[in-house]
Amino acid sequence: MRKLAAGNWKMNGMAAALSEARGVSIAHPNPSVDVLLCPPATLLTRAADALANSAIALGAQDCHAAGNGAHTGDLAASMLAEAGASAVIVGHSERRADHGEGDELIRAKGEAAIAAGMVAIVCIGETLAEREAGSTLHVVRSQLAGSLPLGATPQNTVIAYEPVWAIGTGKVATPEQIAEVHADLRAALTDMMDGADAVRLLYGGSVKAANAAEIFAIPHVDGALVGGASLKAEDFSPIVSALEEA
Ligand code: PGA
Repeated sequence: MRKLAAGNWKMNGMAAALSEARGVSIAHPNPSVDVLLCPPATLLTRAADALANSAIALGAQDCHAAGNGAHTGDLAASMLAEAGASAVIVGHSERRADHGEGDELIRAKGEAAIAAGMVAIVCIGETLAEREAGSTLHVVRSQLAGSLPLGATPQNTVIAYEPVWAIGTGKVATPEQIAEVHADLRAALTDMMDGADAVRLLYGGSVKAANAAEIFAIPHVDGALVGGASLKAEDFSPIVSALEEA
């Protein structure tokens, strides 16, 4: 399987930030892993121009579940694909929290992304309260079962395990915690679909250059979804390198 280093810029990035995307493409002209940057939707077309002829792919951070229609302010998956995205993050915990998105909606969004010819990056992860209550595996299994797109294949779907308490906090999960969840997710996926062994399972939550190699050495970790450390080429490039060397 080709591993994946994905950067999620969240609500960060004006046009000047495209030089950071170009910096990653210069540092990794021919990477041995897939590299994806998900800038804000406003930058997709310009990022596509900036990264033309590079090996860096572009993704979006969310899409609407419908193909088109009266949904003011929303973006359909096909629009994002036309703008240059080949993947869409769905169900990020910030959207689950800020917009009340639940598994059923996230599944529908993932299916819309796939129908538009893109890869759905489905995010799941427990809160601190859920971890402390001992319900981590129950929570992530139920999110996986509820939000895995119908028709998911190893080619069109990626799963990102992101403990909510580790996102943007500098608190990375321990290798033991990551290993336990990723092994469990692999087993759960095996019961849910064909080809589960080839589905990429990303870890996300305070991944940075200093901890990337340790995280990538964990079984069933096939890459990372990186927030803060994806904003600067000098921070993201060593993470890509660590994945190449894993
Ligand atoms: P972080 O974010 O790397 O800034 O913790 C990860 C994410 O939300 O995908």
